[in-house]
Amino acid sequence: MSNKYLEGVFAPLDVEYDISDCEVIGEIPLALQGTLFKIGPNPQYIYSQNYHMFDGDGMVHVLTFNNGKVSYLNRWVRTQKFLKEREVSHAIYAGFRDKEDKLKQIQMGLFSDTVNINVINHANKLLVANEGNDIYQIDTKINTLNKFKFNDELSGMTAHPRICPQTGDLIMYTYLSRDIITSNLIKYFVANSDGHVIHKENIEVPYKSLLHDFAIAGDYVIFPVFPLTCNIGRLFSGGNIFEWEPQRGCDFGIMPRFGTNEECIWIHQDEPGLAIHIVSAYQNGDFLIMDACYSDNIPNGADGFTPNKEEVFPAYLTRWIFDIPNKKIISKTRVDDKPCEFPKIDERYTGKIYIHIYVASTLHSNWYGHDFDAITHYDISNNTKQVHDFGVDSTAFEPIFVPRSANSPEGDGFLLTYVYRKSEDRSDLVILDAFHVDKEPLAVIKLPHRVPFTFHGTWVPYLN
Ligand SMILES: [Fe+2]
Repeated sequence: MSNKYLEGVFAPLDVEYDISDCEVIGEIPLALQGTLFKIGPNPQYIYSQNYHMFDGDGMVHVLTFNNGKVSYLNRWVRTQKFLKEREVSHAIYAGFRDKEDKLKQIQMGLFSDTVNINVINHANKLLVANEGNDIYQIDTKINTLNKFKFNDELSGMTAHPRICPQTGDLIMYTYLSRDIITSNLIKYFVANSDGHVIHKENIEVPYKSLLHDFAIAGDYVIFPVFPLTCNIGRLFSGGNIFEWEPQRGCDFGIMPRFGTNEECIWIHQDEPGLAIHIVSAYQNGDFLIMDACYSDNIPNGADGFTPNKEEVFPAYLTRWIFDIPNKKIISKTRVDDKPCEFPKIDERYTGKIYIHIYVASTLHSNWYGHDFDAITHYDISNNTKQVHDFGVDSTAFEPIFVPRSANSPEGDGFLLTYVYRKSEDRSDLVILDAFHVDKEPLAVIKLPHRVPFTFHGTWVPYLN
């Protein structure tokens, strides 16, 4: 039986490389001084053909830029799962689509601690996070150091914390930690720029869902609850942990950043839909503006995690405007009709008004959400866009924005994206001028091997 998540761009590497001087076409901008961290699933062993990419052991890929030279290395994160399986040379942990075995293992207290979704740089620590597992700390050479807890207490967070560019605070939550997994609670917290938790609150959501991402907007945070519901108890009756329940509609929780559960207001939207990723959001007086990659045409029976091409749904850049005092949605507008995912902004503008949005787009393929062949830059101040079409032979990943300098204007900088060349079964790292995305790349770093599909990552300046 074939499995899309083990083929082509998803096929795992079994080598940990260390390339000291990468081949470069063009000229690396000297303003790029730092390190790009990306992480994705790269299973060491396969438990069964039910394998889903969310199950794969995390592999970190690092490119370090130093005065026009580039070095590369990749390493697995040495989680407890990874080490146990390496010891016996086979898979031990069932995947989340191995429902019967997964249930037995949960009942035995055997939980996978895979981390494969994002690398976060905060308080001089590199943290690797997953949807609900423990956090691992790595060093700049991708050595796995230890499990990490905020204040020696908060051991889990989902993979999309937001870091306030003014204060350096990390704003985050978890909804899958074991003490709340069967409740309608999420554990919200704020850690200051030193990494100390300065605020925490349990928030009651209307129902538990795949709450993969959220937003900060001025003085507020936004929790978007979409009806891809989460219920681990369904495993006991043969169901799925995540199921699509469109009749619930969507709910948006809006709370002051340092607020309480009682201060969290909820705004309902009748239309069902799903945004895995939020672009960003900002506050304009009593109004909040939020952008996301949103799909509103998901049929009944979908679970959102199918490997079948026909059951993957396009998401579109969509903007909401929320009226806080009147607890209502002023508008919801589709910005563009081209499918997109993996949105990024110039993160110096997180939570503040922004005009530049970067996404991976699908122009040619119909395997939406997985096969991106273009990078698009939207300037939402004048409704224009620029597209870099890599063509049908290429798969582009999340574009990471790097500012030209600490004080350069919003959007003045570079976009870094891995591009998989299907016919050559290897990858490039492509550097685009973020103001001229449609032009030829400034430089292309040619790797001799494939960089398997990565989810997310981060740019860390001046680590050399
Ligand atoms: Fe994500």
